[in-house]
Amino acid sequence: MADETLSNLMKEDRRFEPPAELAEHANVKEEAYARAEDDPEAFWAEAAERLDWGQKWDQVLDWSNPPFAQWFVGGTINAAVNCVDRHVAAGNGDKVALHWVGEPEDDTRDLTYSQLKDEVCKAANALAELGVQKGDRVAIYMPMIPETAIAMLACARLGAPHTVVFGGFSADALASRVTDCGAKVVITADGGYRRGAPSALKPAVDEAVTKLDDDSLAATVLVVRRTGQDVDWNARSDGGRDVWWHDVVDAASAEHEPELHDSEHPLFVMYTSGSTGKPKGILHTTGGYLTGTSFTHWEVFDLKDDDVYWCTADVGWITGHSYMVYGPLANGATQVMFEGTPEKGRWWQIVQDLKVTIFYTAPTAIRTFMKQGREIPDGYDMSSLRLLGSVGEPINPEAYVWYREVIGGDRCPVVDTWWQTETGQIMISPLPGVTAGKPGSAMKALPGVAADVVDDEARSVGHGAGGYLVLKKPWPAMLRTLWGDDQRFKDTYWSRWEGLYFAGDGAKLDDDGDIWLLGRVDDVMNVSGHRLSTTEIESALVSHPKVAEAAVVGAADDTTGQAVCAFVILRESAGDGGPDIVEELRKHVAHEIGAIAKPRQVMVVPELPKTRSGKIMRRLLKDVAEHREVGDVTTLADSTVMDLIKDKEGSGS
Ligand code: PRX
Repeated sequence: MADETLSNLMKEDRRFEPPAELAEHANVKEEAYARAEDDPEAFWAEAAERLDWGQKWDQVLDWSNPPFAQWFVGGTINAAVNCVDRHVAAGNGDKVALHWVGEPEDDTRDLTYSQLKDEVCKAANALAELGVQKGDRVAIYMPMIPETAIAMLACARLGAPHTVVFGGFSADALASRVTDCGAKVVITADGGYRRGAPSALKPAVDEAVTKLDDDSLAATVLVVRRTGQDVDWNARSDGGRDVWWHDVVDAASAEHEPELHDSEHPLFVMYTSGSTGKPKGILHTTGGYLTGTSFTHWEVFDLKDDDVYWCTADVGWITGHSYMVYGPLANGATQVMFEGTPEKGRWWQIVQDLKVTIFYTAPTAIRTFMKQGREIPDGYDMSSLRLLGSVGEPINPEAYVWYREVIGGDRCPVVDTWWQTETGQIMISPLPGVTAGKPGSAMKALPGVAADVVDDEARSVGHGAGGYLVLKKPWPAMLRTLWGDDQRFKDTYWSRWEGLYFAGDGAKLDDDGDIWLLGRVDDVMNVSGHRLSTTEIESALVSHPKVAEAAVVGAADDTTGQAVCAFVILRESAGDGGPDIVEELRKHVAHEIGAIAKPRQVMVVPELPKTRSGKIMRRLLKDVAEHREVGDVTTLADSTVMDLIKDKEGSGS
């Protein structure tokens, strides 16, 4: 976001006080800030007490070897037991855990906590029978169906770290993740429903398997039958890999004795884009992650026993892990899981039918609904809603106010929650019963979280100024390292300034000291709240035989926040690339990475703007992509390059 725009935003003076009733009964009140500040470890220990532990910890935090933190050292815990068994044991077995809504209308399924427990135990027994042992990695490549959460919890129960790969990612992306974390099992489905039609998943797994160079990787492929579409089948019993979920899970016992794992036992690896091409395997461990996610879910959404909570994220992203699976289930919440995509009134129909009280989504979706007009949501009774959340990218004041008024009937507070795959838990957010919300601001760090905005020399910038967002103290759900790469973990997050975690985001403090997020300051783009790396897309483009060089920028987009814009130079042998070159390259990126990475725009150009040392000046390309006057070109090796590019733009290619 440009600086001038932000200064305008910060003049925004609308304030929304918490509703009196909510404030009075809020789970977390104002005193929590001071208490957490006084003794953060005691604060987090109290949060951890909300969970069921086997052995209690001896030490809350071991920070003797930074940046490698250990939380609740010596404690033992099982995440699945906390998410299911303990609710059944407490007499809440008949409470609905998941109201699952399939994409085809009328395809719905409710699972109570008892039923979920049985399914998780059966899946754990089946996985164990297939040879999965504690410590083994399991990849999960699934649509939004209950079996996805069941598979994750079954892995957690066994102590087998899962790595969920978003179902929209390509076979290549799946293969590289399976290889990086050494997954010996892949759990998938024949397909899922997308926009009214079955969309296949198993063929992508079959393709991914051909790209693995070690037979022990993905040696077993466990397949849920969801759509019933035809799939190639290479049965494990005939020396192949494939096993049907219903054959082994349905037949398994619903009794499973859980083992208690060390608090620091790996729970999952989630791959995310960094500023270099290779995705990073963010490692989260058990006790701290479950403490951080369950506590913040209860705190930020002010969760009560009778709430119906709905987070619209896909389970393939961190939001789906922390605020659909682990946080809400550890809290014994009733929630909605929807297989489909946001289309017209379908979401609001679900809110009305299931009487959703807490709703958590991304600004992109809100902006899409704004465009379609308020008549659509106005046609539904959404009076059950009491709290709204936003995540994934900065929410502009217009979208915030529309969300509050049109979806929230002007009575629901909006919590704009800033966090990352790496942080595991929400870090910066209003507290709904305490904070008077400002449209567009994530406000301040939650109790127990130490965030600051600093300049190049790591000095706090103070009120009214901008800089880099950093975190100054460890927090329970923080990433522990990058899978198999401690050095990259240190270099990426901890090397810029001694002792500070650098998030990669720019931010400003307003005159009250409240935080306004400005977006990434590195080569990471945020498209519809999804993180994409410019270099990863550039590598995909240059892997195409007609492309010699590529540069990618994230350009501002009204709906998706940012959009992928690519500038490519073709190889001489490719001539002008042919009439379909743009579409060919867009499709190529979708095939290499996934449809979400498909460029909105591809421009074939004769040159790219480079400095004398050969570095591409993406800033100038961004000016072109955003139709601005091109900025300072004096550091270019050849300052006429921008004219050539702009000529091209003018000619519309
Ligand atoms: O740039 C920030 C943006 O999303 C990045 C993290 O992306 P990811 O790891 O995919 O996690 C997304 C869901 C937590 C951050 O570095 N971001 C996330 N939430 C916000 C945000 N930017 C502004 N406001 C937010 N509320």
